[in-house]
Amino acid sequence: MSYILILGAASDIAKAVAAEYAKQGKSLYLATRAQEKEEAEATATDLKVKYNIEAETVEVDAVDFASHADFYEKLDPKPEGTLLFIGYLGDQIKAQADFEETQRIINTNYVGAVSLLNVIANDYESKKSGFIVGVSSVAGDRGRQSNYLYGSAKAGLTAYLSGLRHRLYASGVHVVTVKPGFVNTRMTEGMDLPAKLTAEPEEVARDIVKAQQKRKNTIYTKWFWRCVMMVITSIPEFVFKKTKL
Ligand SMILES: NC(=O)c1ccc[n+]([C@@H]2O[C@H](COP(=O)([O-])OP(=O)(O)OC[C@H]3O[C@@H](n4cnc5c(N)ncnc54)[C@H](OP(=O)(O)O)[C@@H]3O)[C@@H](O)[C@H]2O)c1
Repeated sequence: MSYILILGAASDIAKAVAAEYAKQGKSLYLATRAQEKEEAEATATDLKVKYNIEAETVEVDAVDFASHADFYEKLDPKPEGTLLFIGYLGDQIKAQADFEETQRIINTNYVGAVSLLNVIANDYESKKSGFIVGVSSVAGDRGRQSNYLYGSAKAGLTAYLSGLRHRLYASGVHVVTVKPGFVNTRMTEGMDLPAKLTAEPEEVARDIVKAQQKRKNTIYTKWFWRCVMMVITSIPEFVFKKTKL
């Protein structure tokens, strides 16, 4: 039986992605922090009943770097592909004055992601098979005053995924970078997001699974965020720095 590993499986987008794979008959490892285990178990039971697949919950903490090799070592059988959804938006204003918050943002979105994916990439490279999907963000395309700490960590993740894709191409392992715009999830709860620009997790999930199966390199979801970001990244710096974005 072959499994797909979902890192950050309690994320709203991840749950919708898990359902998409389950519909296709794929078995799943749902990896979350200990505090989300109950929620992951409920998701696993639901998917098993609805789609007659195997779904196992496993524990992972992105910032417990030392545990990552052992976490992956224990997965038996090894997953045929891995998707990373772990993320932490954090509080930009708080983080400007509190380095602990800054570190949490960087360690969750970048260092933890790199630490986990390094281990998994080495296994896939040696087997010459597998796929990796990393969820970054449009926030990584240009630093903005309102969330540049999160944005800079996502920019690092985007560059990491690009390099990983380049490295693993020779071994036939495919890497997809996903850049969502606004998505209606727990992360954005309470924010006043423009309805026309905001996607539901299920729409984003369909885009992600399609991109993985069609071996796309980088996707924006919803698709029009590619155009939005093209405009935002082409504003000259002397104009951009005067905006309130
Ligand atoms: N929603 C958006 O508008 C949007 C836009 C662009 C990109 N993204 C990215 O999309 C991905 C999924 O986010 P989402 O929108 O579905 O939000 P979400 O529901 O908040 O998902 C983020 C997940 O990461 C988990 N997580 C945080 N710190 C962790 C750690 N140290 N170890 C393991 N797991 C940890 C969270 O667990 P807890 O609930 O316990 O914190 C949560 O399950 C994230 O990478 C996010 O940055 C989201």
